[in-house]
Amino acid sequence: EKGGYDHFMLKEIYEQPRSVKDCLRGRIYPEQGLVQLGGIKEYTEKLKNLDRIIIVACGTSWHAGLVGEYLIEEYARIPVEVEYASEFRYRNPIISEKDLVIAISQSGETADTMAAIEMAKEKGATIFGVCNVVGASIPRTSHAGVYTHAGPEIGVASTKAFTAQVTVLTLIALYMAQQRGKISTSAMTSLLTELDHIPEKIQEALSSDSYIKEIAAKFKDSRNCLFLGRGSGFPVALEGALKLKEISYIHAEGYPAAEMKHGPIALIDEEMPVVFIATRNSSYEKVISNIQEVKARKGKVIAIVTEGDTEVRQMADYCIEIPASDEAFLPLLATIPLQLLSYHIAVMRGCNVDQPRNLAKSVTVE
Ligand code: M6R
Repeated sequence: EKGGYDHFMLKEIYEQPRSVKDCLRGRIYPEQGLVQLGGIKEYTEKLKNLDRIIIVACGTSWHAGLVGEYLIEEYARIPVEVEYASEFRYRNPIISEKDLVIAISQSGETADTMAAIEMAKEKGATIFGVCNVVGASIPRTSHAGVYTHAGPEIGVASTKAFTAQVTVLTLIALYMAQQRGKISTSAMTSLLTELDHIPEKIQEALSSDSYIKEIAAKFKDSRNCLFLGRGSGFPVALEGALKLKEISYIHAEGYPAAEMKHGPIALIDEEMPVVFIATRNSSYEKVISNIQEVKARKGKVIAIVTEGDTEVRQMADYCIEIPASDEAFLPLLATIPLQLLSYHIAVMRGCNVDQPRNLAKSVTVE
């Protein structure tokens, strides 16, 4: 059932061109510049009068939430807060009928996320679920929602479920932008045309696999690793660090690249691998100066760059290319090499990648 792959995790990483495509199917109409989300269409009026959106989730799903925050604020211009479900539920949060709570959960069964939406529902908020498992507790408790349709995910480390969550949040952001009149049809057409081609670009990103394996061999014995990014590259860095620590047991931290000088830079020496999300987008030049700061302290830089990049290549020790795309879709592409890097490092260290120690696929305890 691993379809010829050594592990479910690798199979699921390779399934992403298809899972993202399945997630987009029937929901985008590039020529008309239109997004359709049947699951939330009854709430269109509600979307027009929102004060804010609160996203609640745990783990990888929380990282997807941070990408969602970036996209919803950028396109729909609604303030978004992203909360760890386990913190949110215990602190008497301020919630009203004008709030929309979006719960993100692959399993749809995470106890803290479930309790958070029950509480928000009681206080009158509208609840949307973004879940993968159809008919699970969270979608059943939500007023409405959008399924991710990634198919069953067996590996404990979330991979295709994450990219599907990010895809759904991208669709929700664009849908809200459209309903609230914040985006022109021509801008939508061009974004959706590009989104339609993201599955092929994910396929292209996967083609760096053997090069990534070579990089993994160089860093498999590291004791620490930093992941840095800016803008929507920051949640990608957090997710890259989580993947590495949970399956390889190497201590890893994700950080906003600019925060490095406020503390973590003290960790950098010739032993420290630093993974940068350094694609060509609005924060490119800033990230380049952060790379220089790391190189000046002899850190080893692995950079995720846009195809054809020459500037970062002069500084970084290793560059992994991903196809160029609009900044909105960067997380969907930049995540792929980080999944592969963690996977290969974990396999080389002899770890059980599909079932890491101490972890369960769905966390139903509080
Ligand atoms: O099923 P959920 O998305 O609610 O699970 C939340 C987290 O437990 C989960 O994302 C976890 O962090 C991942 N398995 C990590 O890869």
